[in-house]
Amino acid sequence: MNFITDAAVKAVKTLYQTDINPFDVSLQETRKEFEGQVTIVTFPFTRFSKKSPEQTGAEIGEYLKNELSEVSTFNVIKGFLNISISNSYWIDQLNNVIASNDFAVSKPNGKKVMVEYSSPNTNKPLHLGHVRNNLLGYSVTQILEAAGYEVIKANLVNDRGIHICKSMLAWQKFGNGETPESTGEKGDHLVGKYYVIFDKEYKKQIDELKLAGQSEEDAKKNAPLIKEAQEMLLKWEAGDDKVIDLWQTMNGWVYGGFAETYEKMGVAFDQYYYESNTYLLGKDIVEEGLASGVFFKKDDGSVWIDLTNEGLDQKLVLRADGTSVYITQDMGTAQLKYDDYHMDESIYVVGNEQDYHFKVLFLILQKLGKSWAKGLYHLSYGMVDLPSGKMKSREGTVVDADDLIAEMEATAKEQTEALGKTNDFSEEEKEELYHIIGMGALKYFLLKVDPKKRLLFDPNESVDFQGHTGPFIQYTHARIKSVLNRATITGIDAEPSDLASEERDLILLLTQFPDIIKQAATAYNPGLVANYAYELAKNYNKFYHEHSILQAEDELIKQFRLQLSAASAKVISRAMGLLGILVPERM
Ligand code: ARG
Repeated sequence: MNFITDAAVKAVKTLYQTDINPFDVSLQETRKEFEGQVTIVTFPFTRFSKKSPEQTGAEIGEYLKNELSEVSTFNVIKGFLNISISNSYWIDQLNNVIASNDFAVSKPNGKKVMVEYSSPNTNKPLHLGHVRNNLLGYSVTQILEAAGYEVIKANLVNDRGIHICKSMLAWQKFGNGETPESTGEKGDHLVGKYYVIFDKEYKKQIDELKLAGQSEEDAKKNAPLIKEAQEMLLKWEAGDDKVIDLWQTMNGWVYGGFAETYEKMGVAFDQYYYESNTYLLGKDIVEEGLASGVFFKKDDGSVWIDLTNEGLDQKLVLRADGTSVYITQDMGTAQLKYDDYHMDESIYVVGNEQDYHFKVLFLILQKLGKSWAKGLYHLSYGMVDLPSGKMKSREGTVVDADDLIAEMEATAKEQTEALGKTNDFSEEEKEELYHIIGMGALKYFLLKVDPKKRLLFDPNESVDFQGHTGPFIQYTHARIKSVLNRATITGIDAEPSDLASEERDLILLLTQFPDIIKQAATAYNPGLVANYAYELAKNYNKFYHEHSILQAEDELIKQFRLQLSAASAKVISRAMGLLGILVPERM
C-alpha cells in the first residue's frame, strides 16, 4: 500500500521536520488480535519526535486520518500504529480489478527483448532438460510482455555438425529407406533411433579394433564409421548435393516431430535461427577479432583469445583446420540477432552446465567492442531429476519429452477418475481436461521453483489436488466458475457495511498482482507468479469456506461476494496464463 507509505513520509516531514525515505517506513499486516489491516512500526520515528512511541503513533495516526480519506480509524499499541482502511477503499480496488480488461498489463515500456529458449539439436527428440527449458523460456516471455516489453521468442537450432552426420550415416547404412510415413514413427524419434544405432555400431567396431591390438584411443579414431561420418561432414560443408538432400530430408522429419511436441507443450516461437546459417558469420567475426588484436593465432593456425587477465583461461575460437567450434557459431548468431532486431536485451535460456560458455561468449563480445554486449544475459537453470525407477526412456538414459507428457496425461486421468470428477464429461472433453490437468501439474511443479535450483520432479505429487500444485489452483478456478454460473451478477451499487478479514485479505492480494509481475520480470523468475497464484487460490478457498456466497445475508453482500469471486477467477486465470497453464471452466 504505497499511498500509506507516502503519507507516512509526509507525516514525519510535517510533524517532525525530518526527511525520511519510503524504505524507512516499515508496513506490516495488522496482527489478528488487533483492529485494523495495516500497521506502521513507529519506534524508529521516536528519534525525530523525541516523544514516547505511544504519543508518536497517535500523532502520525491523527495526521493520516485527516489527510487520507481511505483511513477510517486507527489505534496505537506501543510502537505499532494499526490503521483501519475504509470499506470504500476496498470496494474501489475490487471494482478496479473487475473493470479493466487488461488488469496488471503494463503500458509498453519501449524496450525490446529477445528470449532464446529450447534450442535443440536435430539428432534426437526433446528430453526432460528441454521440458524445463521450454516451460521456463515461454513463461519468461509472457511475464516480460505483461511487464511492458516487446518480446521476440527465438529458437536457435543446432542443425549441423558431426552428431547430425552420425544419425544420417546410420540411416543410410541401416535404415532400409524407413520414413516417418512408412513406420508411423514420429520424425524426431526415428532420427534419434538412428543416432543410437550409430553409437552401438561404432562401439562394436571399437571393440573389434581393440581385440586386434589397438589402443582405445586409436580404435576410436580408426573405426571406419567415425571416419565416414567425418567425410560426410566435409561433404556437407562442401555443399555436396546428395548429402545436403539427405540432411534436408532428415532435418525435415525432426522439425515435424518438434512442432508436435511444442504444440502439446503450448510453446511457440517468432523467429528461428539455424546454426547452419550462422557458423560462417562466426568465422567473419574471428577475422574481425584477429584484425583488431583481440584474438591471436597459434603456430598451428588455430585462433584463440587470452582471458587469463579475467581469471579465465585461453579459449579456442577456431580450429587449426579452419572449422568452427561451438562458440564460433554463437558469436555469429549473437551478431545476426542484433542486426535483425536491435533489441535492448537478449536473454539466453540455457542449462547451468553451460555457465562457463556464456561467461566467455559475453566477455569476447565485449572485448570485440560490441555496444550491445552489455544487454546479454544467461538465464541459467538447474537440472531436473526424476525419482529413480520412474519412466526410463527407451534408451534407458534420458527421459523423452513426449513420453513424459503422455505419462502426465495418464496420471491426471487416474487421479481425476478416482475422485469421480468427470462422470458427466464426453470422451472428447475428458481427453482435453486430462491434457490440461496433466500439463498444468507438470508446468506448475517445474515453474514454482527458482530456476537456479536443481529439482526433483515427482509426477504423482504434482497432480495432488490438495497440494501446492497446478491442479489445486486449476480446481479452485473451476470451483469459482461453477459458483458464478449459478448466479446473476448485477454489480455492487452500494457499499456493504461490513467486510470480513478474509474478504479484505483477498482484495489486498488481488491488488498486489501488478507488482508481482514486475518483480518476476526483473528477476526472470516465474516462481514468484506461481507462488502468488497459490496464495490467491488458498485465500479464496478460505473465504469460500467461511462465507456463503449464494446464500449470503442480503443481495448487496451476495453481489459483493460474486464480484470478489469473479475478480479472483480472473486473476488466477491470468497468473496461470503467465506460466503457460490453462485453467478449465469446470472439472
Ligand atoms: N543446442 C545447444 C545444446 O543442445 C544449446 C544452445 C543454446 N544456445 C546458444 N545460443 N548457445 O546444448
